[in-house]
Amino acid sequence: MATAVSVPSMDPNVARFVSRTHKNLINGKWVESESGESFATFNPATGEVLSNIAAGNSVDIDRAVKAARDAFENGPWSRMTAAERTKLIWKLADLLEKNLEEFAQLESLDNGKPLAVARAADVPLAVENFRYMAGWATKIEGNTIPLSVPYTPGAKYLAYTLREPIGVVGQIIPWNFPLLMAAWKLGPALTTGCTVVLKPAEQTPLTALRLGELIQEAGIPDGVVNIVTGLGEAAGAPLAAHPDVDKVAFTGSTEVGKLILQAAAGNLKKVSLELGGKSPNVVLDDADLDSAIAGAASAIFFNHGQCCCAGSRLYVEQKSFDKVVEGVAKAAEKINVGPGFNPGTQMGPLVSEEQLARVCGYLDVGVAEGAKAVTGGSRLGEKGYFVKPTVLVNTNEKMKVVQEEIFGPVVTAIPFRDADDLIPRANNSTYGLAAGVWTSDIKKAHSIAAKLRAGTVWINCYNIFDAALPFGGYKQSGWGREMGHEVLEQYTEVKAVCAAL
Ligand code: NAI
Ligand code: MG
Repeated sequence: MATAVSVPSMDPNVARFVSRTHKNLINGKWVESESGESFATFNPATGEVLSNIAAGNSVDIDRAVKAARDAFENGPWSRMTAAERTKLIWKLADLLEKNLEEFAQLESLDNGKPLAVARAADVPLAVENFRYMAGWATKIEGNTIPLSVPYTPGAKYLAYTLREPIGVVGQIIPWNFPLLMAAWKLGPALTTGCTVVLKPAEQTPLTALRLGELIQEAGIPDGVVNIVTGLGEAAGAPLAAHPDVDKVAFTGSTEVGKLILQAAAGNLKKVSLELGGKSPNVVLDDADLDSAIAGAASAIFFNHGQCCCAGSRLYVEQKSFDKVVEGVAKAAEKINVGPGFNPGTQMGPLVSEEQLARVCGYLDVGVAEGAKAVTGGSRLGEKGYFVKPTVLVNTNEKMKVVQEEIFGPVVTAIPFRDADDLIPRANNSTYGLAAGVWTSDIKKAHSIAAKLRAGTVWINCYNIFDAALPFGGYKQSGWGREMGHEVLEQYTEVKAVCAAL
């Protein structure tokens, strides 16, 4: 059973929600997992048990897929107009906004992030994502196409395309932005008329489960969104492999992304993948160095470095290197690290003991490889999963800490000579998710942006997200794009209809 969590200023609804033993949402009903088993999630600030969650397995996934299939083929969802879908998704956004404080508190407790960040970023971005996607339902259109068929001379045709929902979608999401990742996934699925089985991360399922209640309250029909919690191998893998799932959308590690792809081969379901990154953040001598320093610090330290697009490789033009490194190190030392619920906390703990061990392992590897920590370089305290914000120098592209995704508050700083020296080094990565460029020279900014192999390039800013802006990766950072109108292609099939006149 969950132990009572006592955190100052916790909303009583939140306290009640975390102390429940949670169930799965299948066909509009909250049901226990077939095994009857559950697992614990932990408060990362203390390491104590936070909540007990249903341990879903392949039987639960199969039930959820059947419910989603039935809702897709036969339910009221399949007969609804696009405008009706818009209203339901908009209503969900309104309900989420109304319960903003509760969701922010749940997210902070479950993930560890500062409450202020969850209030200002995670929940409002999720709300806006649903609203943006709600509007698309009535704007998904096909084309009319003139035909000139050479072997039917004189014949006339009316040919057009339809964009139809792809069907039953499996969505597997990670723990770094639990609610926002659910919104990025559910928004396009709902607006296109698909049905869903959502598998939240085992570390952070709480906001997705509470969102499930709001999905019901909004009046989205039973079976349209099913939520099965469980471990990756037990619940995620059977969802990715399920023969009656038409598409799987995944966000997480590149390693698991490759497993998803293999699992999808069985029925050749469509796949979209949002994977890891090792993004270069480039500061030129002519940049406004004060904003570049602040931007470089927040590029890596936001969300404790647990961002797929974190600016984890800082490249600084030679002349400014010492000044920028010193500035980022000073910024790191000023960060108030503590439990997410403490007022004034700017950085919380990492999400889990596993992630703490992974990040500290990389810090040891870095030192063994010859890197030097200008600041940080170790765990902070003994309780909870805190790591000191860290700046590593004496690093180069051959090192593991420069090549591999650390997913913690650790940046490697490397000087470069000029653009010719920079570009091959910045692109020397198996990843290609994001990049940053800081300069006051507009020509250099756009010419470097053009040469970087990355799905997003930020110029004189970093971590700017909007539901209208597509996001996704080159190379091993993934397949497909989330958000913007681009994401709609991942959730629709094109049907060409040709009629002889
Ligand atoms: P993960 O990739 O194992 O987990 C992400 C999701 O996939 C979770 O819901 C998990 O239950 C599920 N999953 C795990 N194994 C699966 C399988 N065999 N089949 C289907 N689903 C499966 O990520 P993890 O272990 O939590 O973190 C490892 C590393 O992955 C991090 O250190 C970081 O480098 C990267 N990562 C990247 C994220 C991103 O936003 N791109 C998010 C989370 C992690
Ligand atoms: Mg894993």
